[in-house]
Amino acid sequence: MGMGDETPEATFGYIVKKLNDYGLAYLHLVEPAMVGTVKDENFDPRWDAIIKLLRDEFKGVLMIAGGYDRDTAEKAIANGRADIIAFGRPFIANPDLPARLRDGHPLNAADSASFFGGDVTGYTDYPTMN
Ligand SMILES: Cc1cc2nc3c(=O)[nH]c(=O)nc-3n(C[C@H](O)[C@H](O)[C@H](O)COP(=O)(O)O)c2cc1C
Repeated sequence: MGMGDETPEATFGYIVKKLNDYGLAYLHLVEPAMVGTVKDENFDPRWDAIIKLLRDEFKGVLMIAGGYDRDTAEKAIANGRADIIAFGRPFIANPDLPARLRDGHPLNAADSASFFGGDVTGYTDYPTMN
């Protein structure tokens, strides 16, 4: 399993339960289907159950990132998977992401080729809505 742990339910369940004692502003998880910056559609469903376990164990605000768009984020919040959905790549590719989400405007696709530097490409040239 991830991080070389054969019993992630016990390990992360214990950690998250203990985190309740610290009054954290939030706990941020990344969807287990995310492998680096790519979403694995065939990931082990055991991890989905672990997210739900950690959701139940953590008493504070739970934030999750990982492959979300406007609709899937709304659904994840509505069904209690998370309290807050975070966006990574959509923010890279959409300088006006909050306004786009508000208006239901389509998003620019992120170009992974420019994620890790080079020149200004991928940093300052993604277009805004107008
Ligand atoms: C260019 C790039 C660099 C990233 N670097 C890190 C990192 O250093 N540490 C980390 O925990 N996640 C890192 N991530 C993962 C993001 O924090 C996020 O969990 C991931 O992109 C899934 O969210 P998204 O689908 O909204 O992009 C990185 C993602 C991208 C695209």
